[in-house]
Amino acid sequence: MREIKIKASKEYDIVITSGRQNLLFQLENHKLKNFYVITDENVYEIHRAYFDLLRDKVLGISIIRAGEDFKNYETVSKLYEDMIKKDVNRKTTVMAIGGGVVGDLAGFIASTFMRGLKLVQIPTTLIAQCDSSVGGKNGYNFNNIKNLIGNIYQPDLVYIDVNFLKTLSSREYVNGMAEVIKYGFVCNKNFFNYLNENKKGIMEREADKLLHIVYECVKIKGKIVEEDELDADKRHILNFGHTIGHGIESASHFNILHGEAVSIGMAAESFIALKLGLIDIKDYEKLISLLKFFNLPVKFSNLKIEEILEYIKKDKKKISKDIKLILPDGIGHAIITSELKHSFIYEALNEFTK
Ligand SMILES: NC(=O)c1ccc[n+]([C@@H]2O[C@H](COP(=O)([O-])OP(=O)(O)OC[C@H]3O[C@@H](n4cnc5c(N)ncnc54)[C@H](O)[C@@H]3O)[C@@H](O)[C@H]2O)c1
Repeated sequence: MREIKIKASKEYDIVITSGRQNLLFQLENHKLKNFYVITDENVYEIHRAYFDLLRDKVLGISIIRAGEDFKNYETVSKLYEDMIKKDVNRKTTVMAIGGGVVGDLAGFIASTFMRGLKLVQIPTTLIAQCDSSVGGKNGYNFNNIKNLIGNIYQPDLVYIDVNFLKTLSSREYVNGMAEVIKYGFVCNKNFFNYLNENKKGIMEREADKLLHIVYECVKIKGKIVEEDELDADKRHILNFGHTIGHGIESASHFNILHGEAVSIGMAAESFIALKLGLIDIKDYEKLISLLKFFNLPVKFSNLKIEEILEYIKKDKKKISKDIKLILPDGIGHAIITSELKHSFIYEALNEFTK
C-alpha cells in the first residue's frame, strides 16, 4: 500500500493498494461515515462484494446507467431527488464507486447538495484512477458540450484499488493507457522510459506494474494540482493531446472513446512539434510505437479536418479565437502556445493524415 498526500485548498490522502481489505480501516481513520453511494450498473454488477462490505454504513446506493450519455442534468436531478428521499443530510458523505462518469457526477453532487458534503472517491477505471479522481474537477455535459457545468471540489479521501482494473474490457483498459502515456511523454522522461521497458507486463495487467503506473500518475498529477489547483496555467500541460483530441471526439459524435481520441491528438500534436523542430523524429517515433503497442489509434480517417477545427474553436476552455496547443519540447517537457495560425494547423493536420 502506498499513500500520497495532496496539499491543495483542502489536504487529503490518496491510498493506492490492491484489494479492499484496508477500506473500512481507511474510512474510519479519516473519520468518514454514513455514506450515500453513487455507482453505475456495470460496477454494481461486477463488484458486488464492495457493496456488501459497506452495507452497514450506507444510507442509500444509487445505481446510474453506465456511460457518457448519462452524464447529464437528468441524472443529476434524479440523484438530488433520491438523496432527499433517503434523508441525506449534512453529516452524510457522498461516495463514488465507478469510472470517470460516476466520479465527475458524484463530485458535482457532493459539492452542491446542501452547500457541500464530504466526498470519497473509489475510482474503478484506469482513467479514473490515474486522472479524474485526483484534482477535484467534476461536472456533467450540457447541450452536447462536454463538462460544461461543473466546478472544482476536492475529495476527503481517494481509495484506489488496482484490482478493479482487472475486470475492465481491453478497450476500456487501453483507453486509460493513453492518459498514462501522456504523463510520461510531457511530464516525466523516466516514467516514459519505464512504460517502454515494461509495456508487456503493463499490457498483461501485472499487479506490481499496475500499482507502479497508478502511483506515478497520481504523483505527477497531484504535484501539478498543488501548483495550479484552479487550472490557471501549469495544469494546462495535462491537456496535451486534448485540444485536437476533443475535436476528434466531438467530430466522431463520441464513437471514438476519450482516450482513443487523446491518443490521436497526442500523435497529431507531436507531429506539429516535429514540424516546428521541438522534438526529433526518434522521440516522435518512440511515442507512436508505444501508442501502437497498446493498440491505440494514431491517425483518424473518415473525419473532416474542417469539422475537427470547428469543434476545437467551440471548446468551452477557449477564451479567445486562438487555438491553444500543448507541444512536446523533448520527452518530459512541453510548451503551451496559442500562436500558431489556423492555416498552419490545418496544413499540418492535412500532412499528418497522409
Ligand atoms: N474530472 C477530471 O479531471 C476528468 C479527467 C479525465 C476524464 N474525466 C471524465 O471521465 C469520463 C471518462 O472516464 P471513464 O473512461 O472511466 O468512463 P466511464 O465512467 O464511462 O467508464 C467506462 C466504462 O467502464 C465501466 N466500468 C467502470 N469500472 C469498471 C470495472 N472495474 N470493470 C468493468 N467495467 C467497468 C463503466 O460501467 C463504463 O461502461 C469522461 O466523462 C471524462 O470527461 C474527468
